Amino acid sequence: MHIKDRTFVISGGASGLGLATVKDLHSRGGYVAILDLNAENGQKVVAELGTHAKFFEVDVSEPSSVAAAVSALVPWLKETGKPIGAVIPAAGVGMPGKLIDRHNEPIPLESLEFVLNINLRGVLDLIRLCLPHMTKTTPTEPDGERGVIVMVSSSAAYDGQPGQVAYAASKGAVRSMTLVLARDLAQYGIRAVSIAPSYFESNMTAQMSEKVRKSLEKVFEFPRRAGRGEDFAGMVRHCIENSMLNGECIRLDGATRMPSRL
Ligand SMILES: NC(=O)c1ccc[n+]([C@@H]2O[C@H](COP(=O)([O-])OP(=O)(O)OC[C@H]3O[C@@H](n4cnc5c(N)ncnc54)[C@H](O)[C@@H]3O)[C@@H](O)[C@H]2O)c1
Repeated sequence: MHIKDRTFVISGGASGLGLATVKDLHSRGGYVAILDLNAENGQKVVAELGTHAKFFEVDVSEPSSVAAAVSALVPWLKETGKPIGAVIPAAGVGMPGKLIDRHNEPIPLESLEFVLNINLRGVLDLIRLCLPHMTKTTPTEPDGERGVIVMVSSSAAYDGQPGQVAYAASKGAVRSMTLVLARDLAQYGIRAVSIAPSYFESNMTAQMSEKVRKSLEKVFEFPRRAGRGEDFAGMVRHCIENSMLNGECIRLDGATRMPSRL
């Protein structure tokens, strides 16, 4: 799938890995639809990028909000005449917590739902609602390709750390869904890939203490540093451009395997 003159729908596009992806695709002639909860950041990004970028406020955990955002996106697609090239549902949250705490209290169900509704249901919901606007386009690519779904899993899908039960469940689900989506969408010429980053610099990880960050760096193989937005965006770009990549979850972690304790 080529990037120029295609629209890329990116949730969580106002910060971190989503934002790096927005900037990279925009700089290569792509149109970017930034869907995010944070309207202030989203508007700021659009103002910086200038043309070919539009912000849509959304809470991906609220079905009515996702439906409204996609409904608002459709007229923009018509106005620009640039069909969707990829959906990149990158909005995600981590809320650490063990199922049972040291006082023998089970975790509140709301904590689990908060993570699952954003990282899993929100991902499925956005893809689901974008698909009808991808399946009917006239294929102009070699192999009759119509588009790509590039999802964001995590190293937690493979070696989740203590307290990551909900996060690992959501990211493991994304990993598991990849092949099924590739199989289900093959008839439309739509591919599905996911990327599993380890520890990347972003707002999410900026909340970690210096001590945790240093301990993480000690378990890195090579390179011995946190991943950067551009490392992630480069992989998204490759997933979009390389038509043979399909049905696979790709680890992006410099061979790091997260231990149980840091
Ligand atoms: N940073 C890492 O180390 C790392 C590692 C593995 C996976 N990931 C995944 O990468 C993705 C991006 O994370 P990041 O690190 O860039 O975090 P980030 O906090 O910098 O960005 C996340 C973005 O998602 C938006 N968002 C949060 N909840 C939302 C909601 N309900 N509806 C719409 N938007 C919402 C936020 O406003 C923010 O702009 C997430 O799915 C995360 O789980 C990150």
